[in-house]
Amino acid sequence: MRIDIITVVPDLLKSPFEASIMQRSISKGLVEVHFHNLRDYTDSSYKQIDDYQFGGGAGMVMMVEPIDKCISALKEERDYDEIIYMTPDGETLNQSIANQVSLLNNIIILCGHYKGVDQRVRDHFITREISIGDYVLSGGELGALILCDAVIRLIPGVLGNETSALTDSFQDDLLAPPVYTRPAEYKGWKVPEILTSGNTPKIESWREEQAYKHTLKRRPDLLKD
Ligand code: ADE
Repeated sequence: MRIDIITVVPDLLKSPFEASIMQRSISKGLVEVHFHNLRDYTDSSYKQIDDYQFGGGAGMVMMVEPIDKCISALKEERDYDEIIYMTPDGETLNQSIANQVSLLNNIIILCGHYKGVDQRVRDHFITREISIGDYVLSGGELGALILCDAVIRLIPGVLGNETSALTDSFQDDLLAPPVYTRPAEYKGWKVPEILTSGNTPKIESWREEQAYKHTLKRRPDLLKD
């Protein structure tokens, strides 16, 4: 998968791709991430990428031209499956969206700033708008990182254990059951006996039951269907 991220603050984005799972996905050749500084796509001597909004009102708006130049240059090189705009008024990111995006080959992620982008960018370039929750960040970069992390770990070969992403919370609309590791007893706190029984079918049904109970308690809304 190739991810092109358009931003005015590339420095905010780089280091998370230099560690852990996201770094591993890149070094394994499964993911390519490219950062594009929007200021490199303006002819203005002040590297201006935003301007006052028509009609008045507080806050600057990101101009259409630098974004057009950047996206058009990328589209000349290859086809993109999706051009995603990170914005608080987009559809709220969930596991189903992460699953869908993980199946794509080439995506562009545009990070908004200030009051957002000129509406014509959304009308003419953007194919999907994603929010990471009902709160306003100072820019789309942190949202883009969260989207990348949620998506990249689903790409086959990225996680060591192929099955582990499938048993995450929210896959099947269930929260994950509790997990334990050695020692089987610590300070008198015991691991549920079933997990050390070696009886795989019983362990599976115990996990399923625990997942339902946990979901019912914490997120009954997930079970409504
Ligand atoms: N940009 C600002 N706030 C955001 C949010 N909640 N989600 C995605 N992008 C954003």
